[in-house]
Amino acid sequence: MTAIAPSILAADFSRLGDLVREVDRAGADRIHIDVMDGHFVPNLSMGSVVVKGLRPVTQKSLEVHLMVQDPGKFLEGFLTAGADRVIFHLEVEPDPRPLISRIHQAGKKAGLAFNPDKPVDEIAPFLGLVDLALCMTVFPGFGGQAFISSSIDRVRQLRELIKTHNPTCDLEVDGGIDAVTAPGVVAAGANVLVAGTAIFGAKDGPTAAVKHLADLAA
Ligand code: DX5
Ligand code: ZN
Repeated sequence: MTAIAPSILAADFSRLGDLVREVDRAGADRIHIDVMDGHFVPNLSMGSVVVKGLRPVTQKSLEVHLMVQDPGKFLEGFLTAGADRVIFHLEVEPDPRPLISRIHQAGKKAGLAFNPDKPVDEIAPFLGLVDLALCMTVFPGFGGQAFISSSIDRVRQLRELIKTHNPTCDLEVDGGIDAVTAPGVVAAGANVLVAGTAIFGAKDGPTAAVKHLADLAA
């Protein structure tokens, strides 16, 4: 069963609550919240106030993707605001174990992300400790970028590592996921699809887009 995680980065923020309710009803498994600090990535996005604002809007899990240089500094704020899962990057925490422990001690799920230029096997030592591994399929920083096609092999490689080290770990992909690219990443082993533009920018609206992606990925 493949889970759909709409990324609100592509949503119309003047209607954020309604749009989150809509994708929730359409069958989204979780809501993906992209946090950017202008340092780790060349863009700014949102902070914990958005998590706090969305917490009463949906019972689906809120997952925070921290694209920030110093994730430890912001962790408590997101946990207190109501995040269920916190994902941070191996690029900024070469030893991610202390942060993973802090997230687990708070009773929440931990995810580890890595960029398209990071050798996939560098995540292997930590797969046994996390609930989710996020294989970036674009360089993070902006929504609406084209899927990097060589990511398919990386997803396949990550799936093999997950089978060996932690079969219940989620394999999530993020960046350029749409009706064209979804079937390939699912066939390669992804079981959580993040999609921003393909859902909130869809011509026929977010409900149809969530259902279509879920059907393709089933
Ligand atoms: C990339 C973010 C993604 C992004 C996905 O910097 O981590 O979550 O918003 O957006 P789309 O689906 O538009 O590529
Ligand atoms: Zn993301």
